[in-house]
Parts: sequence; structure tokens; C-alpha cells
Amino acid sequence: MKPIIDVLLTPADLAAALRADVVSGLSEPTGRRTLPPKWFYDERGSQLFDDITRLAEYYPTRCERAILEAHAGDIMTRDVSTLVELGSGTSDKTRLLLDAGTGTSGGLRTFAPFDVSEETLRSAADTIALRYQAAGLAVHAIVGDFEHHLGVLKEIGEPGRRLVAFLGGTIGNFDPAGRASFLSQLAAALAPGDRLLLGTDLVKDPARLVLAYDDPAGVTAAFNRNVLSVINRRLRADFEPDSFDHVAVWNDVEEWIEMRLRSTRPQAVLVADLALKVAFEAGEEMRTEISAKFRPERIFDELAAAGFDLSQWWTDPAGDFGLSLSCRLG
Ligand code: SAH
Ligand code: AVI
Repeated sequence: MKPIIDVLLTPADLAAALRADVVSGLSEPTGRRTLPPKWFYDERGSQLFDDITRLAEYYPTRCERAILEAHAGDIMTRDVSTLVELGSGTSDKTRLLLDAGTGTSGGLRTFAPFDVSEETLRSAADTIALRYQAAGLAVHAIVGDFEHHLGVLKEIGEPGRRLVAFLGGTIGNFDPAGRASFLSQLAAALAPGDRLLLGTDLVKDPARLVLAYDDPAGVTAAFNRNVLSVINRRLRADFEPDSFDHVAVWNDVEEWIEMRLRSTRPQAVLVADLALKVAFEAGEEMRTEISAKFRPERIFDELAAAGFDLSQWWTDPAGDFGLSLSCRLG
């Protein structure tokens, strides 16, 4: 069966959203400029993220996979008929859930991957539809922005329980206010009894955290600079990515990693489609991502505040990464 693909974000919508983000992020005064992380993920950025997940220094993917290997059967109970995956990317680890859900003790009928990156989503949806065709799994992919389009989840799937997976620690890419808003919008889109499977990276030795976001091979640096190439191509800008250094720092107060791009010299950049000229001083930094790391109590409190009741909490053996399963309260 071919996958159904719903496009909630057309290329024109995406262009408008990128323009708005670049105008607001780059019009800030010197030193306070930001770009949101969702623009990392064009085809090259998604490939670079995939390369990151294989780096020895980047532990989250391996740790989360180990938890899923141990507990996929506990997660994919027979009553789960629909699995939605937000920020699904290649849905690689998710196959562990799909295997359990389509196995003899599972009741999974529909898989709905949801991502802002259309190319990656289409390719993942095709691969999964083919792989699980014999198991009778329907694939209903959604090109959308989980900051704006969660309402669509009300219409997706089969009668029965929905399970929403948000893996990889991507929730850490929101700031605390963004997280609260995301979780409450998600709760509003779910019915009582539906579930949330949430992957969260945990606070640990800052030296290990910084290494995970500043690997010696420079893959994360290339991923970070790629956002400038995205803006060059989509908005006819003239950033020289090599004139920005990759920076990863641990913010001890907020308990998050910040990725930044630091201008190596004084330079002016023109974003032609926006008629916007931005001057950077030598050494000036622009923030491109935060990646929050959690303590378990914080996750539990934030889930409860949004109307989710924690059912299970697992970590990998070393306690580096956490996976929670919670239930939307009635
Ligand atoms: N879940 C995968 C991929 C994580 S990478 C894993 O655990 O490895 C983050 C993914 O989220 C990317 O595929 C990116 O395109 C997607 N993404 C980022 N911001 C998004 C947004 N606002 N709406 C929808 N998808 C988003
Ligand atoms: C997708 N997200 C959870 C990754 C993270 O770890 O915050 C993105 C990433 N940034 C740098 N390396 C990986």
C-alpha cells in the first residue's frame, strides 16, 4: 500500500515561515541574534543529523535505542491502534516500535510520521510502507510543523488508543515556555487514555555534553553551519558559512547546551529576498539551537502540568537518557 501524504506546509508556507524567522531572529541587536533549529533540516541537514547519530560522542540515539529494544513490547500494548511520531526524521529507531506493534501481540494498524522536512519524510514513509506492507500497516505521513499543526492529530488514525512518540530528545530544543505550550497543545489534541512516549536527554557531566555537540570530526559543526546554506539558497542570502565558527557551550543555569555560530571577522551579510543587510562584528555570536537536558522530576512535573499521568519511566543502564510513557488524563 502506498503511503498517504498530507502536506500542511506547502513550499510557499515554508518560505513565508523562514522569512518571518530570519527577519525576527536577525533583526535583534548585536549579540542577541538567533535562528530557530527547525531550519537545519533540509536534505543535507537531515543527512548530517543522521551522521551525528552514528558518532561515538553523540550518545542519545544509542541510549534511546537500547531503551526501546528493552521495552518496545511494554509500550506497544494491543490496544494501541495508531502510532504518531512527531519530528520523525528517518524513523529509524521507531522500527522497534513498529515491529512490536505489528507482531503477534500488537494491534497497530496505522503509523503517522510527522515532520517539517518533506524530502526526508517522503523517503521514510515509502521505506516503511514497503517494509510493513505484509503486516497490513497503513502509513499516513504528515508534512507539518509541530509548533502549529498538532490539531490535525484529532483526525488521524483508527478507533482505539493513539500513542504519540516524540523521540531523540527533540523536546529539549524548545525553551521552557515553548515546551509548556507544546505539551498543552498536544494534550488538547489527544483523547483521554491516549499516550505519549517522550525521549529526554538527562543532565550529566558538562564535558561529555559539550563533546557530544562539538565532535572532533566536525560533523556537528557542518550541521550547525548548514543553516546558513539553507538561508542562502531559500532567501538568496550571501552568508559565507566558513566565516562562522561552530560553538557549543553548556549553560549551567538553564541546564541546556547552546549551539552558536561565531563570526570570525567583521562582515555584512545581505539577505536579498528580504532586502535585509546584517552586520556582524568579529567574535559576535548568534544562537542556533538550545538542547535542554533534564532531571527526572522536572519532566514529571511538566507532564503533570500539561495533563499527562506518568505510567512508566525507563533509562539506559548508564542513566544517560530517559524515556517516559504517560497517559492523557480524562
Ligand atoms: N526523531 C528522530 C529525528 C530527530 S531530529 C530521532 O530521534 O533521531 C529532529 C527532527 O525533527 C528532524 O527530522 C526535523 O526535521 C524535525 N523537526 C524539527 N522542528 C520541527 C517542527 N517545528 N515541526 C516538525 N518537525 C520538526
Ligand atoms: C534533534 N535534536 C534532539 C538534536 C539535539 O541533540 O538537540 C539536534 C542536534 N544538535 C546537535 N546535535 C544534534
